[in-house]
Amino acid sequence: MPEDRPIAEVHAPAVERATDDLPTPVVVPIPQPLPAPGLDDVQSTVLAGSGGAAPSFARPLPRIMAIANQKGGVGKTTTAVNLGACLATLGYRVLVCDLDPQGNATTGLGLNPRNLASSMYDVVLNDLPIEDCIEPSSVRNLFVAPASLDLAGAEIELVPAFSRELRLKRALAEVHDDYDFVLVDCPPSLGLLTVNGLAAATEVVVPIQCEYYALEGLGQLLRNVDLVQRNLNPSLEVSAIILVMYDGRTKLSDQVVAEVRAHFGDKVCRHIVPRTVRLSEAPSFGQPIIAFDPASRGAIAYRELAKEISGGTPQRAR
Ligand SMILES: Nc1ncnc2c1ncn2[C@@H]1O[C@H](COP(=O)(O)OP(=O)(O)OP(=O)(O)O)[C@@H](O)[C@H]1O
Ligand SMILES: [Mg+2]
Repeated sequence: MPEDRPIAEVHAPAVERATDDLPTPVVVPIPQPLPAPGLDDVQSTVLAGSGGAAPSFARPLPRIMAIANQKGGVGKTTTAVNLGACLATLGYRVLVCDLDPQGNATTGLGLNPRNLASSMYDVVLNDLPIEDCIEPSSVRNLFVAPASLDLAGAEIELVPAFSRELRLKRALAEVHDDYDFVLVDCPPSLGLLTVNGLAAATEVVVPIQCEYYALEGLGQLLRNVDLVQRNLNPSLEVSAIILVMYDGRTKLSDQVVAEVRAHFGDKVCRHIVPRTVRLSEAPSFGQPIIAFDPASRGAIAYRELAKEISGGTPQRAR
């Protein structure tokens, strides 16, 4: 049984919980923030924007998404792994490209970084064809280009390298027709690895924690996206902002949701990922949440997000 109070309680406290063990629905309509001093302007912006048609996040395939936010521990890897797995179960061919030396997406998808013959380090630094390091995951249609610890040195080793910002872009060009979605899990920095992710991407997806300081540093990330767009990748833009780690027990979560929607409007996905223990447990079993606990609130949230971002099942077999 999920451990948190259901999100619905925040907005409809009188609704009683069902007595059975059905998972709590996590499809959250655009929430109306609780009254809070100083948030009047924010509220009206959110409410004004909430009445129109839902924005579409669907785009032509293939899509390369840099999952980026230089703040640490905000849910980049959890989103790359679980959004990737849910897109794969919708029928898309998905590659999760682990560009973080911590290798959390690699281990979260069941691979041991110590047992790898090759990794993204070899791709970025030694021009290894990316298909030579790609491994299947336990989820059908979901593949991973793993990271190993030596990627930590890449930030420095790349400095004198020829076209150092475009290494990933060139590598992914080789598998352009093989995947519908490539999700690049960026490290928590704005260094050369993240710049490689942004330069290779068709879009940027930013997870934002429903916590205090959630917007801190975001301006710098957006400026970097802008710089990369102007100098390396003209079509790059932030396509989606995903609110994660929403805790329905706190007023603060609602206030952050309201603030983020006020700032970013239609860029913010309608579905919100709740904070749940099951989501944090899944990586230690090397499984995405849809394999680890398919009926959990986290699994439902990422499944809905995958539909929202992709527009649903693939229109054509690739
Ligand atoms: N919705 C959630 N509910 C509960 N725990 C979560 C949730 N999302 C992520 N976590 C946990 O929070 C921690 C940080 O998440 P994650 O590793 O995805 O962040 P990150 O942005 O990739 O971190 P880093 O910047 O270090 O790469 C992890 O322990 C993860 O399991
Ligand atoms: Mg991470």
